[in-house]
Amino acid sequence: MKRRIGVLFGGRSAERDVSLMSARSIMAHLDPERYDVYPIAITPQGAWLFGPDAREALARGTLEDLTPALIPPDPTKAGLWLWKDHVLEHLTQLDVVFPVLHGPWGEDGTVQGLLELAGIPYVGAGVTASALAMDKGLFKDVMRAHGLPVVPYRVFTRAQWRRSPEAVLDASEALGPYPLFTKPANLGSSIGITKAKHRAQLRAGLDEAARYDRRLLVEVGIPAREIEVSILGNDDPQASIPGEIVPADEFYTYQAKYFDDRSQLLIPAPLPPHLAQRARELALAAYQAIDARGMARVDFLLHRETGELYISEINTIPGFTPISMYPKLWEASGLSYPALLDRLIELALEDR
Ligand SMILES: Nc1ncnc2c1ncn2[C@@H]1O[C@H](COP(=O)(O)OP(=O)(O)O)[C@@H](O)[C@H]1O
Ligand SMILES: [Mg+2]
Repeated sequence: MKRRIGVLFGGRSAERDVSLMSARSIMAHLDPERYDVYPIAITPQGAWLFGPDAREALARGTLEDLTPALIPPDPTKAGLWLWKDHVLEHLTQLDVVFPVLHGPWGEDGTVQGLLELAGIPYVGAGVTASALAMDKGLFKDVMRAHGLPVVPYRVFTRAQWRRSPEAVLDASEALGPYPLFTKPANLGSSIGITKAKHRAQLRAGLDEAARYDRRLLVEVGIPAREIEVSILGNDDPQASIPGEIVPADEFYTYQAKYFDDRSQLLIPAPLPPHLAQRARELALAAYQAIDARGMARVDFLLHRETGELYISEINTIPGFTPISMYPKLWEASGLSYPALLDRLIELALEDR
């Protein structure tokens, strides 16, 4: 029998456009002989809508033909329901849900919590790992507790920033020399991130980050090459070969990530074997330190002068177009894009 796969995409986070790109490729590559795919569009307001062409409808903003849908948290009423003329209709059970949602309200444990309550297996990390990977500050706290290398950083709340800006600026500058990076703790795709070269830019960067989150991260900027490793698996995860990003911008900005075709992916990363090996080992250690599951992409900063590797972040729902680093690294390691999807669905179905 075919497996029934719910695919969630769009969503309330600022990364919704990236989700739409990932979801298009995932749905196009799920083998129709093996899977019945149920696309569920989440609007920027958070409305859940079902329809065979839900992705295109959400991308175009033509939502009239879609039907309000929900997955209730109640496992005795499991599956996908449609809401027609004030009446709930059970459309189907779901064997697996693939949350193709980047950023808050999707990659951060919230949707994972709903699916846990509903008793529906899902692709990728569980509640705790998702939440830890989403919060760049807590993530680095866990790395540090495990003795894993991260650059010097501090977390401030928006309230602290508003109440005592000079103290926050002083504490940030005490971390190390400029440039300093300012980031919203819970976001991705470089949204809200600033590379500050002096105090005025640091101030502006903290204001910018505070637009997106109540937790603000400041970290020492290093002259870095950007190395990424894909991880796949549950209790016995495997690491891909490392890849390298060569951003077209001064750092890997939103523009450089998705719109500038001068940004390059080097696969494999041109690294001496001992560094490639160290990146894979650190990636696995980071993955296991947060108890991730299914998949994740672990990103590193490789200091150009000292050769030191620092763990930068983990993405538990990495970009997933055929030209995205996560699937490309597996392809280069011998696992095709469709075979990777099959594997992720199998991993979702393993016992938790
Ligand atoms: N400490 C740092 N030193 C040098 N570059 C950095 C540093 N932190 C971030 N960057 C640059 O900013 C980009 C985005 O930062 P990152 O922490 O990966 O956030 P996101 O989750 O938005 O991808 C990185 O890919 C890198 O180009
Ligand atoms: Mg990143």
